[in-house]
Amino acid sequence: MKKLFAAILALCMMMTACAFAEGTLTMGTNAHFPPYEYYEDNQVIGIDAEIAAAIAAKLGMDLEIVDTDFDTLVPSVAAGKYDFAMAGMTVTEERLQSVSFSVTYATGVQSIIVKEDSPITGVDDLYAEGAAYVVGVQQGTTGDIYCSDDFGAERVMQYKTGNDAVAALVAGKVDCVIIDNNPAKAYVDANEGLKILDTEYVEEEYAIAINQTNTELLEKVNAALEELIADGTVDAIIAKYIPVE
Ligand code: ARG
Repeated sequence: MKKLFAAILALCMMMTACAFAEGTLTMGTNAHFPPYEYYEDNQVIGIDAEIAAAIAAKLGMDLEIVDTDFDTLVPSVAAGKYDFAMAGMTVTEERLQSVSFSVTYATGVQSIIVKEDSPITGVDDLYAEGAAYVVGVQQGTTGDIYCSDDFGAERVMQYKTGNDAVAALVAGKVDCVIIDNNPAKAYVDANEGLKILDTEYVEEEYAIAINQTNTELLEKVNAALEELIADGTVDAIIAKYIPVE
């Protein structure tokens, strides 16, 4: 009797374990990118974390967030390591070669952060004949890719996170940082003596990266996201983290 009970118990436990595994969506991100994803009390919060939670809720699934290096996200999604990646990630032709993207849910603009007393006044100064300014970027981001193309690898210093790039600017190791506008604002607010230049570098659209073979998940995520956009949930989440001035 005891044995039978133990066997039934073990079976139940196995079944719940499987049910849970099936019911969990794993999201890869790089959680050093406020207001999209960042830590508060050891928890990843932000626009992406909340939209992802709302999508998971619609699909009746749990959400697990894995924090890793940004430049590993696209290859990891392509390799099936995460169900999706959400990281203020810009849709690019190159990334579309290896992953699918959902409908877009936000836009970003690559902005330039400088020290308050910087001689750099706009993007033209970076392109000027003989200019030798060194740009700090987060490795593998669109900011990195554009700057390396435009100014040459020798004028670009890559860092693991945006925070690290900004710390290098504060320490005088680079002349400016090029990064998405909303994280740029958060970094400037968190550090003395920095400002964002009025000029915009490149405009882009954010979406969720999903494995190319997982068309079922892509369709489900798109359906959920479209509903969340239509009913104002996405706007409300964005407004919560980016108050309009
Ligand atoms: N939008 C840029 C890109 O896609 C930067 C994203 C960085 N995201 C992050 N969570 N660190 O390359």
